[in-house]
Amino acid sequence: MNERIVNVRTSDGNYRVVVGTGVLGSIATATADALGHAPARVFIVADAGVPESAHAAVIDSFAALGASVHVHVVRPSERDKSIETLEGILAAMARTRHERADPVVALGGGIVGDTAGFAAACYRRGVPIVQCPTTLLAMVDASVGGKTAVNLAVPGADGAPELRKNFVGAFHQPILVVADIAMLSTLSDRHFRCGLAECVKHGMIAAEAGDDQLGPWTARTLDAAIARDAATLIELIARNVALKATIVGRDTRETDPAGGRVLLNLGHTFAHAIEPIHHLTPDGDAAHAPLHHGEAVSLGLAAAAHCATTLGHCDASIEFQALETLVAAGLPTKVCDLPDTAWIVDAMLHDKKVSGDKLRLVLPIGPARARLFNDPLIDAVRGAIDSIRA
Ligand code: GLY
Repeated sequence: MNERIVNVRTSDGNYRVVVGTGVLGSIATATADALGHAPARVFIVADAGVPESAHAAVIDSFAALGASVHVHVVRPSERDKSIETLEGILAAMARTRHERADPVVALGGGIVGDTAGFAAACYRRGVPIVQCPTTLLAMVDASVGGKTAVNLAVPGADGAPELRKNFVGAFHQPILVVADIAMLSTLSDRHFRCGLAECVKHGMIAAEAGDDQLGPWTARTLDAAIARDAATLIELIARNVALKATIVGRDTRETDPAGGRVLLNLGHTFAHAIEPIHHLTPDGDAAHAPLHHGEAVSLGLAAAAHCATTLGHCDASIEFQALETLVAAGLPTKVCDLPDTAWIVDAMLHDKKVSGDKLRLVLPIGPARARLFNDPLIDAVRGAIDSIRA
């Protein structure tokens, strides 16, 4: 079996990320190793979009170890990444008499991993979580590093609820991550390309983690990755996880004000502002609304690169390369029907990273390098938003 292990060392605990084909079949023994005992009960939070065969692989693996297994299915939408879904998970765990030493297993994409992770962080003040990402985005980013959260619906000025992304959450590191690339064979092209957006992001900051060739390598191997070549996928995922592990290992709780984990938010302040705008579509086809997270990140990366060029933080080749790779990955760099620029700036001011009502933006400063900038010139931010209007 072609398999790679990446070790993650954080100030909140160490764990292994297992990447390979068919690795879900041995999840129970890997979990028992990580826990130091065979679990008596396992609570699986499963993404409704994941094939039954994956549920069966996980259930059978734990049942063979003698565990009693409960499965709770949740819908993978931003609307369902909510306090209500969280409460449903917690109540179901309580009904199964889930105890402190029993693990939760998150089987799904980033939305389900974040929600299940937060449930595990809260339930009885914390139970172990095993992340089993089933999308490329969750494999290369969301499942690693211990960020867990749900969205918060906050009444806006007109009384209508506005969705604040990942506004309520906790750091809760997994005890194990199992990324089975067999899951990617049934993933839609659209979801697959969303994962590539986070890979492009990693390439734009990779020198900060000692892998300055990640971006060029990703651009060269895009076609093989899109064709779902197994060896390429394993290398792509392992390399992106290793980069994230280095950054998270240095600054687990994102307390370094300049060069730490905050760099992983490149493009995300723009992305979080436009992602909840329901009518936006990646290709102008209304049937494809709303944007997926990776599509919003792609637009956010394009905007961040433009903003950095305008402010003179990097030369125009950085923006050019970013746009070229995003387009080659089939991701949007422009979008129709964006609301007013002032409205978007206001939405960006709701970002979690805002401090003293001032924007804080991660921007590229050179090949594979980025920095956090406080209170960037607002005209450059406006220009960046206008640069992604189709
Ligand atoms: N996805 C950004 C982070 O994990 O810090």
